[in-house]
Amino acid sequence: MNKIALVTGASSGFGLEIFNYLNSKGIHAYGVSRTLKDSLQNRTFTLDVTDLTKANEVVKRLIEIEGHIDVLINVAGFGISGAVEDTPIEAIKRQMDVNFLGTVNLTKAVLPYMRENRSGLIINFSSIAGLIGLPYQAFYSSSKFAIEGFSEALRMEVEQFGIRVVVVEPGDFKTGFTSKREKYTEENSPYYEKFYKAISRMEKDETEGSNPRIVAELIYKIISSKNPHDKYVVGPFSEKLFVILKKILPENLIYAIFKMYYGL
Ligand SMILES: NC(=O)c1ccc[n+]([C@@H]2O[C@H](COP(=O)([O-])OP(=O)(O)OC[C@H]3O[C@@H](n4cnc5c(N)ncnc54)[C@H](OP(=O)(O)O)[C@@H]3O)[C@@H](O)[C@H]2O)c1
Repeated sequence: MNKIALVTGASSGFGLEIFNYLNSKGIHAYGVSRTLKDSLQNRTFTLDVTDLTKANEVVKRLIEIEGHIDVLINVAGFGISGAVEDTPIEAIKRQMDVNFLGTVNLTKAVLPYMRENRSGLIINFSSIAGLIGLPYQAFYSSSKFAIEGFSEALRMEVEQFGIRVVVVEPGDFKTGFTSKREKYTEENSPYYEKFYKAISRMEKDETEGSNPRIVAELIYKIISSKNPHDKYVVGPFSEKLFVILKKILPENLIYAIFKMYYGL
């Protein structure tokens, strides 16, 4: 029996790579995003992940077609940037709505079916920014920290029904993410110069980042594994090292290194 997977954010970047790679490996992967069309032939549906009613409809339709759902991969997301003081509350709400509540919506939509089947795998996309608060990306980081906490709690609730929860924490990768980042600052902001210094460094690392295919291969490995880890940090060696150092070095030292790196 083919495994059935649902990938959010399948029109670009990680989601698109995962969608194509899983299908090339014989997994029936279905993709959703706001700009994808409803097409059974292409296994795609239009879905804004902030819409719980529509998310329930899409999952119900998938169950009618395939009879079951084995894997949910919550990839959809975007990034806002700006000093905390400069970022409008509406942008902050949208950030949490898409990155965090979008993941919650899809999870709630698939859980009844996975629970009934007593089997399932939910893979949530966090980020290294979900492990370390990034300056001038406070709300992007917050949305990813939220995914970390949500996934840890959910894991303990659904284990009893044979459902696994895995978190993927990517470093910098070259995707559509960088060009879509929303920037909130003004020339007269007291944060203006430091904001641009830090964000330019981050964007340079992203545009010189790794190929998202690496992450698609990791997702296939996780799906194929009988006993996957709870969390996977994936990205350049220096970024993985930083995550390890954050666990063992005193916090003030870590933040001093961080500030130096971002020119703050
Ligand atoms: N690139 C990196 O370096 C990096 C590092 C760590 C984590 N991440 C995370 O990886 C995930 C994917 O990002 P990416 O790098 O692949 O960026 P991307 O190329 O910009 O892809 C983002 C995807 O999310 C979808 N999306 C955005 N808002 C949506 C909504 N409201 N409803 C449904 N789909 C929505 C977009 O599709 P539509 O526009 O068609 O809706 C697109 O398919 C994000 O969660 C991001 O935070 C990225």
